[in-house]
Amino acid sequence: MNGHEAIYTLPRPVSHYKRPMKSPTSILITGASSGIGAALALEYATPGIFLAISGRNADRLEAVAEAAREKGAEVAAEIIDVTDMIAMKDWTRRMDDAHPLDLVIANAGISGGGDAQSEDGDTTRDIFAVNMAGVLNTVLPIIAPMQKRRAGQIALISSLAGFTGLPSAPAYSASKVMVKAWGEAIRGGLKKDGITVSVVCPGFVKSRITDQNTFSMPLLMSAPKAARIICRRLQSGRAVIAFPWPLAAIMWVIAVLPPCWRLWILGRMPEKG
Ligand SMILES: NC(=O)c1ccc[n+]([C@@H]2O[C@H](COP(=O)([O-])OP(=O)(O)OC[C@H]3O[C@@H](n4cnc5c(N)ncnc54)[C@H](OP(=O)(O)O)[C@@H]3O)[C@@H](O)[C@H]2O)c1
Repeated sequence: MNGHEAIYTLPRPVSHYKRPMKSPTSILITGASSGIGAALALEYATPGIFLAISGRNADRLEAVAEAAREKGAEVAAEIIDVTDMIAMKDWTRRMDDAHPLDLVIANAGISGGGDAQSEDGDTTRDIFAVNMAGVLNTVLPIIAPMQKRRAGQIALISSLAGFTGLPSAPAYSASKVMVKAWGEAIRGGLKKDGITVSVVCPGFVKSRITDQNTFSMPLLMSAPKAARIICRRLQSGRAVIAFPWPLAAIMWVIAVLPPCWRLWILGRMPEKG
């Protein structure tokens, strides 16, 4: 090559291969006494796995703990209200000291019931306390220990209802919008510290929340099926895990419409539990 020849450098091919993350062996799940949280605990429960699970109903939580132990997991079950900031800090730190946590799933949540009218003032405050403050109480204490280890994964359970405010469930959808926005916002910063943050947005899943709904729920799936999808996609460290895809696609589109169209469409949608 002489000095007059232009040197064209082709861009390096971009690899689309995503290195799978290490399977978690020490996992903390809030709201594991029923529904999605219980199904996640049982999905992860295998020999060699440590599960720290919590909820408020002792009988249901102990039944899940027992079923997980039968599958070979070591389980520590604790009755804690996620709105109790001090108790949550104590519990998450104790669990992390005993078994450094690979994965923390902030799952506990409530809805107002089957319709917007059931979200009165007190219910609105309760929903925000559990679904928003409860998530912060779960996640914030664990960030510093994970940063120190430069490892760990945090999963925030939002909802397809968290893609935009829903007139049919104002407090519930707003709480899930916050969880999704916060998770997406902290993901980049924590990635530099070796922590992966994923937001999980399920559609309708059969549980004590959706059992209150009286309308027909499209593509309703079982909690064990939802748990399998969540576990598999958490493994790849995705930013947002939204399913089932047809409902997720509809919510992606609705969320980017101009407000007047969006609110017109949402005003005609079934109420979300
Ligand atoms: N089901 C769906 O269609 C759907 C869709 C999208 C997102 N989600 C979200 O998935 C998560 C799990 O809900 P789910 O559908 O599985 O309903 P679920 O069966 O009612 O489970 C909710 C869990 O949260 C716990 N919980 C509620 N308030 C709590 C509190 N103050 N302190 C501690 N634990 C508390 C409950 O424990 P106790 O009963 O023992 O208090 C229970 O274990 C929620 O965040 C929900 O918003 C659900």
